Amino acid sequence: MTSPVLVLLSGFLCHVAIAGQTCPQPDDVPFSTVTPLKTSYDPGEQIVYFCKPGYLSQGGMRRLTCPFTGIWPLNTLKCTPRVCPFAGILDNGAVRYTTFEYPNTISFACNSGYYLNGTNSAQCTEEGKWSPELPVCAPITCPPPPVPKFATLRIYKPSARNNSLYRDRAVFKCLPHHAMFGNDTIACTAHGNWTELPECREVKCPFPSRPENGFVNYPAKQVLLYKDKATYGCHDTYNLDGPEEVECTKLGNWSAQPSCKASCKLSVKKATVLYQGERVKLQERFKNGMLHGDKVSFFCKNKEKKCSYTEEAQCVDGTIEIPKCFKEHSSLAFWKTDAWDIMPC
Ligand SMILES: *[C@@H]1O[C@H](CO)[C@@H](O)[C@H](O)[C@H]1NC(C)=O
Ligand SMILES: *[C@@H]1O[C@H](CO)[C@@H](O)[C@H](O)[C@H]1NC(C)=O
Ligand SMILES: *[C@@H]1O[C@H](CO)[C@@H](O)[C@H](O)[C@H]1NC(C)=O
Ligand SMILES: *[C@@H]1O[C@H](CO)[C@@H](O)[C@H](O)[C@H]1NC(C)=O
Ligand SMILES: *[C@@H]1O[C@H](CO)[C@@H](O)[C@H](O)[C@H]1NC(C)=O
Repeated sequence: MTSPVLVLLSGFLCHVAIAGQTCPQPDDVPFSTVTPLKTSYDPGEQIVYFCKPGYLSQGGMRRLTCPFTGIWPLNTLKCTPRVCPFAGILDNGAVRYTTFEYPNTISFACNSGYYLNGTNSAQCTEEGKWSPELPVCAPITCPPPPVPKFATLRIYKPSARNNSLYRDRAVFKCLPHHAMFGNDTIACTAHGNWTELPECREVKCPFPSRPENGFVNYPAKQVLLYKDKATYGCHDTYNLDGPEEVECTKLGNWSAQPSCKASCKLSVKKATVLYQGERVKLQERFKNGMLHGDKVSFFCKNKEKKCSYTEEAQCVDGTIEIPKCFKEHSSLAFWKTDAWDIMPC
């Protein structure tokens, strides 16, 4: 009853069972190692899979025996990376990460005004812990500011107990007669120190000299200092070129050096002129002469076109040049028209 095929087949199987087939090098399981690792194994030989450090077994066979068939059984072992504690949030800062698994590294940065107390990156270790420990973002503070010599604090308020926070400001003022060099305002920097301090220096000015045809008044003191003032005046018929009051500047000189300038006597008896945009009678408006700096415009006649135009004249320290084109209207020639009376060109 036995078929010849069956006989053949059983004969083959007997041969395999007796001699056995060798197993090849076993398949790689991700993140695992095999011991012993060889290129071939005899039937009955055992191998063990271990998850590599930092990886955990998620079930499946770990220990396999090479069967007589020479074919390793299907390995269901799974090794997965350890996961470190969640670290995706950093107060007053930010975390850069892809995952929190071994062996990844995450990095940290703080918002402005905060500094990293700790390292700027951490790695998830084989043990599933962050190394080094996670940092914190701590507020940047500056100690109370130093006060420069000859200065006082005008504005300062500690905002973090006795310290100041990043970008806080303090403002200095110099003692009287001392001038500020540099910025009066300092700020708490990201380095936890203050920006450069200003300097206060005593500044002296020379005694102002009396102007010709005038006088100057100043405080009766041994020395004149920053912000001291002097006032100028002129004698009769002279007037001041410059401000009445000057001040000792931080550069050690006076803000201006006024002088006294003579007024102008008028050689013209009768003329209508433009003065500050208005027509005025020269002899009436400037009865007492013109002051230094005064400007008027005389009317002249264009004979060809029978029209009038103006030319300017200014009193400069006692002298005024009457425009050549201006012809004083003679009182005898009363029938002639004055230049200012005719059409402008
Ligand atoms: C910085 O961190 C260490 C450790 O966490 C802590 O002891 C220290 O007080 C911190 N320093 C500041 C200024 O926050
Ligand atoms: C602030 O300064 C005062 C006076 O210097 C001191 O007595 C106090 O202990 C300081 N406070 C803190 C929180 O440092
Ligand atoms: C003075 O310093 C403050 C704060 O650092 C800054 O904002 C300001 O622009 C500075 N002023 C000048 C004139 O440099
Ligand atoms: C503040 O500290 C930084 C860093 O230490 C330094 O480069 C800078 O010169 C300091 N600034 C001042 C005004 O001292
Ligand atoms: C004051 O002195 C400075 C520097 O010597 C100069 O540049 C400035 O023009 C002087 N000011 C006056 C009003 O003379």
